[in-house]
Amino acid sequence: MDEKLNVAIAGAGSGYTPGLILSLLNHEELDVKEIRLYDIDKDRNEDMNIIISYLMKKNNYDVNIISTENPEKAFKDVNFVFSQIRAGGMKMREFDEKIPLKYGLVGQETCGLGGFSYALRSMKGFLELIDKIHKYAPDCWILNYTNPETIIAESVRRKYPDFKIINACDMTIGIEDIICKSFGYDRTNWIPVYYGLNHFGWYQSIYDSKVGKDIMPEIINKILNEGLNVEGEDKSWAKTWTNYKTLLDYFPDYLPNNYLEYYLFSEQIVVNSNKNYTRANEIMDGRLKKIKDTVYNIKNEINLEQIDYESSSHGNYIVDMAASIIHNKNERFMAIVPNNGAIKNLRDDVVVELPCYINSKGCEPISLRFDIPDFQKGLMESQVASEKLLVDAFFENSYYKALQAFTLNQTVPNAKVAKLVLDDFIEINKDYWPELN
Ligand code: G6P
Ligand code: MN
Repeated sequence: MDEKLNVAIAGAGSGYTPGLILSLLNHEELDVKEIRLYDIDKDRNEDMNIIISYLMKKNNYDVNIISTENPEKAFKDVNFVFSQIRAGGMKMREFDEKIPLKYGLVGQETCGLGGFSYALRSMKGFLELIDKIHKYAPDCWILNYTNPETIIAESVRRKYPDFKIINACDMTIGIEDIICKSFGYDRTNWIPVYYGLNHFGWYQSIYDSKVGKDIMPEIINKILNEGLNVEGEDKSWAKTWTNYKTLLDYFPDYLPNNYLEYYLFSEQIVVNSNKNYTRANEIMDGRLKKIKDTVYNIKNEINLEQIDYESSSHGNYIVDMAASIIHNKNERFMAIVPNNGAIKNLRDDVVVELPCYINSKGCEPISLRFDIPDFQKGLMESQVASEKLLVDAFFENSYYKALQAFTLNQTVPNAKVAKLVLDDFIEINKDYWPELN
């Protein structure tokens, strides 16, 4: 494919959009003709249009920017859609975090019952989005960051098994980046083997091609002895990376995904949470306020030198995937794919996160050549069952299945509290959720 690309960003109002677009335009192997900013929130989309147009002018990029709430204009003849929608926005994220906390349970965006509340909104929003995209660009690639990713990918696996979509998460890159920053490694030499569900997995090994061996044991020792270097991280992420060492203190055999802290140390997480001010509040007072301030400054031509958006590793990850598709590069990425035997001692009909080769055919998962250990397998199977029940609840409009899903969630101690939280979420999510009978 040598033609110039049309790319749409779905959920363009997000604070991640400037970094994503700069990654796209700075990529040497991608030639972009037009970027369509699509968001159902007109104000936020317009704000982003002002910021992106400013960045284009400042950097002399020759690319057409369109900002629209109309799906036809957004998606007609696009080659790629990068989706990062957040159904219900930060306002609903705040409820996802605060309602479980009210009952003494983990309140988090993608994990625990907050993640389930978000998932029922997100499946609805995302499947509707896919319908729109396919109406106007049936042949395009969708590269998807929409959370909670395992549940979204499972709903897509069931409804649209043949669509050209790759589900990706940047968290493994985040883990590798902080390890490199802490101990001076260069991860471009690494060949990691990782498996799990999204935000719920483990590294099995990290082969370093420069030194010719698996360096994961060495990395684990360094973290156990020195901890990770949290300098420059925001407050919440600094906490996460500090807790990462605790995960290893207990289970030092494999590098875990940091999100496992919400399941394995749920009680401490709740004790250390502020019921009245959660991550959603931090984002609203931080990343979202920054957008408003930047727009104000651009409109009034003040403090322009303070505008510091730049390409991001979050953006680079998905943009590198696009390049690997277009140029058939067969590069290796973690992606979320149907299992179908790739993890041989886990059921086939689930989606899992694994290293994959990405080429012009899409995503080819690399099968594990070992059985996953019982501890990891047990945790994953319980998580799979609860997430599958939630997806059943969504497609079957089943209150009963939702209650089973909530009860089985590994952050929940009993059915009574599962029901209380579920009923609160039904009330607050209203039409964002499917009807549950
Ligand atoms: C990582 C995860 C994403 C998640 C994000 C939250 O990038 O992979 O899935 O949405 O962190 O970060 P935030 O700063 O929005 O809390
Ligand atoms: Mn993620």
